[in-house]
Amino acid sequence: MRLTMVGTGYVGLVTGVCFAGTGNDVTCLDLDPRKIESLKQGRCPIYEPGLEELLERNIKNGRLRFTTDATDAYKHAEVIFICVGTPSDSAGHADLKYVMAAADDIAASFIRFPGKTRTVVVKSTVPVGTTLKVRDRIRAAAPQAKFHIANNPEFLKEGDAIIDFNKPDRVVVGVENEETGELFRRLYEPFVRNGHPIYIMDILSSEMVKYASNNFLATKISFINEMANLCEAYGADIAKVREGMCADKRIGSAFLYPGLGYGGSCFPKDTLACIAMGQSAGVPVSVSQAVHDTNQRQRDRFFARIESHFGATLKGKTLAFWGLAFKPRTDDVREAPALTLIAKAISAGATVRAFDPVASETARAELGPAPAIFADMYEAAKGADALVICTDWDDFKSPDFDRLGAALKSRTIFDGRNLYRPDEMSRRSFTYFSVGRAARPGSADTR
Ligand SMILES: NC(=O)c1ccc[n+]([C@@H]2O[C@H](COP(=O)([O-])OP(=O)(O)OC[C@H]3O[C@@H](n4cnc5c(N)ncnc54)[C@H](O)[C@@H]3O)[C@@H](O)[C@H]2O)c1
Repeated sequence: MRLTMVGTGYVGLVTGVCFAGTGNDVTCLDLDPRKIESLKQGRCPIYEPGLEELLERNIKNGRLRFTTDATDAYKHAEVIFICVGTPSDSAGHADLKYVMAAADDIAASFIRFPGKTRTVVVKSTVPVGTTLKVRDRIRAAAPQAKFHIANNPEFLKEGDAIIDFNKPDRVVVGVENEETGELFRRLYEPFVRNGHPIYIMDILSSEMVKYASNNFLATKISFINEMANLCEAYGADIAKVREGMCADKRIGSAFLYPGLGYGGSCFPKDTLACIAMGQSAGVPVSVSQAVHDTNQRQRDRFFARIESHFGATLKGKTLAFWGLAFKPRTDDVREAPALTLIAKAISAGATVRAFDPVASETARAELGPAPAIFADMYEAAKGADALVICTDWDDFKSPDFDRLGAALKSRTIFDGRNLYRPDEMSRRSFTYFSVGRAARPGSADTR
């Protein structure tokens, strides 16, 4: 099939590359000329394991191309996927300006190139009812155009995006007729050979599946953090509580890791969008509100602990940060806890030295010149009064503790991802703070 991705970000690029991989002829459109130029050269503008190899292979075999020219991108398309961003606006609603601008471009191309029936698919995460608004907008601008509308939410996780897209737990598609449902069965059939289901449903339910899924996962994270905070208050150990609790098959263990809370481009904005949808419809959404509030508080709480360790002031202190990306195996720093903590540390008077295995550039663009970002994790730790761990990259899981201890001015670690065992850290003479477990002074603490 001839497919066009509108928006070549995390979702549009992964979707385009993977559909090209199963033999489709894919054009990826974006407004950003630098992104498109780099992709044309086979260089991936984002860090995503496995993506660059697939990109090169599909460019070489002629099934994947990139353009900034909307006319060119839409002219031959049979199926058009809208994959543009839907960030939160100032009131927490999903901002649909990019989606609607894409709809206008599509309508204009339908007027210029009338002819065969096309399918327009909203893949961006959008509030319930948006896909039908896109349909009506195109219809109003191009009344003669023949097209089907569909919603196809994306469930990939950054860091595992290729695996998730190629072997999805499920594919969800909202359609208005059986013909469109059949088209999606054909398109996704190569990806569900493992027997995983394709759910074809109405468009409103399909849109809601995405919000319900993300909101539920965010709820798990805020829930375990709330339990971790109770553990701290009462001297219990969240690691043990987690084990005992997660052995129950009804509960499971995924997304139940205590830490700094969720970040990224999806959970924060999708939780806010659910709250905004509830408010607009007059439906109480107190669980979603609590999930959001707990998540925001978790960062503040962690920072307050750092401050109180230093006697309520960070003036003149140096903090080293390991991990800038919102989670491992990505360079995405959108809503990353590290960025919040670094901004707070700088405004409290601290000097910040930082390291991330892949997110230095994206973080630099957000943080500006103030924090020094190093290419080596031990160099970042040099002379610091404490190390703050914000992302659970594998690189940090078994560091050379002697080297780390020698680099730090004070052997103090604030671990926002619970990477180490408190008793071991104490034995190694580190003063060690983690989440939901009792703080441990180093056995030779000299603070
Ligand atoms: N990132 C994820 O992990 C993920 C997972 C599932 C769903 N989603 C959803 O998918 C959507 C896209 O997310 P993303 O992270 O890929 O966004 P992104 O910001 O990485 O990419 C969006 C791209 O769209 C381009 N764009 C905007 N308007 C355009 C237009 N009119 N024509 C062509 N290009 C245009 C932008 O230049 C940008 O490159 C969002 O709704 C998001 O919630 C994201």
